Amino acid sequence: MQVFNSVNKMQEWCRDYKMQGKKIGLVPTMGYLHEGHLSLVKEAVKSCDIVVVSIFVNPIQFGVGEDFDDYPRDISRDTNLLEKENVHAVFAPSIKEMYPEGYSAFVQIEGEITRKMCGASRPGHFKGVATVVSKLFNICQPDLAFFGQKDAQQVMVIEKMVKELNFSLEIIRCPIVREQDGMAMSSRNAYLNKEQRQQALILSQALNRAEDEIINGERNIKKVRETMHELINESPQAEVDYIIICNALDLSDLQEIRGKVLIALAVKIGNIRLIDNLQVEV
Ligand code: PAJ
Repeated sequence: MQVFNSVNKMQEWCRDYKMQGKKIGLVPTMGYLHEGHLSLVKEAVKSCDIVVVSIFVNPIQFGVGEDFDDYPRDISRDTNLLEKENVHAVFAPSIKEMYPEGYSAFVQIEGEITRKMCGASRPGHFKGVATVVSKLFNICQPDLAFFGQKDAQQVMVIEKMVKELNFSLEIIRCPIVREQDGMAMSSRNAYLNKEQRQQALILSQALNRAEDEIINGERNIKKVRETMHELINESPQAEVDYIIICNALDLSDLQEIRGKVLIALAVKIGNIRLIDNLQVEV
């Protein structure tokens, strides 16, 4: 497995394989890898000839006062894990390499898709994500790029960007990987102390409660959201950022629960903001 820090070297390496007709898979990550990330990697290894995993904590997708400085990092642990998965290359550039002095090119996906949920709570977040992902696509020229449903809004924003900016690649969505107790895996879970880890279970529990209500016939969005709010409020350290029930295909608002529905939430446990989601079809 090769590790690249240079944009030019990474791009050249990928271009060579591309010219040989190899199918390139890219898994963009911010590192501190867990089984959720590795499920994307496994999927890429299965379906591509050459797999590149990027590890880059992208400063421009973090807002002021967010956790960029504290974000967990462990590149040697990550590269060891990736080597075991038979990944061909890791791309781990420095901030300067990605955003040299005077950098000024950004990608912005406008409209409802980036206005709500994490787009509302984290202004500029998706501009940062779309910009770095565009750069990674141009550097690695993947045929397939793998993203997790854990970040449901993110993968939709990327799909829209790929379609509208005519990137010549396919986005593969991978399901959420959870801990045994139901908690969605996330690098940010490393911040949680024992007590907070217990309280953080409330995210998946609230989603499961909502799903049960819907399966039992509830179609009223307000009622389901209220149930989720009430349940979460029982956890003293939990504070709801948003709970949304919307159309899973384009995140548009719904009058009632019908069709393919996304239930998504962001909850702060102390200072730690966690997200989770679930899809139901009725
Ligand atoms: P990061 O949070 O490291 O996640 C990298 C990829 O792993 C994303 O596509 C995310 O959805 C997926 N992922 C994370 N936890 C998962 C889980 N429990 N199950 C399945 N997939 C999971 O998302 C980012 O990084 C960044 O925004 C990035 C796209 C790399 C751009 O900087």
